[in-house]
Amino acid sequence: MKRGDINQYLDIHKMPSHIAIIMDGNGRWAQERGLPRVSGHKAGVNALKEIIIACSDLNIKVLSLYAFSTENWKRPKEEVNALMNLLVSSLKKEIDKLNENNIKIRVIGEKEGLPEKVQKEVIKAEERTKNNTGLILNIALNYGGRKEIIHSVKEVCKKVINNELTLDDIDENIFSQMLYTNGLPDPDLIIRPSGELRLSNFLLWQSAYSEFWFTPVYWPDFKKEHLIQAIIDYQKRNRRFGSIQTGVGE
Ligand code: FPP
Repeated sequence: MKRGDINQYLDIHKMPSHIAIIMDGNGRWAQERGLPRVSGHKAGVNALKEIIIACSDLNIKVLSLYAFSTENWKRPKEEVNALMNLLVSSLKKEIDKLNENNIKIRVIGEKEGLPEKVQKEVIKAEERTKNNTGLILNIALNYGGRKEIIHSVKEVCKKVINNELTLDDIDENIFSQMLYTNGLPDPDLIIRPSGELRLSNFLLWQSAYSEFWFTPVYWPDFKKEHLIQAIIDYQKRNRRFGSIQTGVGE
């Protein structure tokens, strides 16, 4: 299929509101080319630029990216430093273009645990784009799904202790409001490249009814065509949310 042709197979009435991506395979991509792992991450940023613009053009409401997990600190110090530097340099370099495209940046995760220079750049990017009304680019940094749930439990407990909530008030809706993703719809479609078939602690609560799409392609080789194919496949799914009624695929 020629580049560009594939768009015509999309049903614009059944677009996912929220797409989440676990950007995986950068290291193996680099290793196969005899390059250092950080070259894979740099190539990953290039792949990301194409996908952000594609999501913006397709009027996707939210694109969530798993950029650095709470478990990624276990990697060698040089790789962690290189990733942090890459985050800062990418944000600095791309912020004008993101802003011009009406993209709103939001960061989820334990921001306080990030190096100061990253925190500074992240806050700057959020502040600069806060009034934008286009694609919400939700970047998970120092993020872990279990930690997020614990954080939310503590927030709920605080409100109970302060008599702002009673035990009977606590329901799924209240709990969702305490998550980092407060105000965002749950992901409709979660994409994981690189052949791994797991969630790896990403959006655990929010993914209860998400559709999954996997591909063996490594993240640096992930193109707009793969994104469109994922959406086409998603549109064929029958989302029942536990009921028997037909959903998106009907
Ligand atoms: C997983 O591949 C990838 C990461 C841990 C980092 C992803 C981050 C980026 C692409 C930078 C994003 C930048 C911005 C501005 C959001 P891996 O290293 O685990 O690959 P492997 O499984 O092949 O080793």
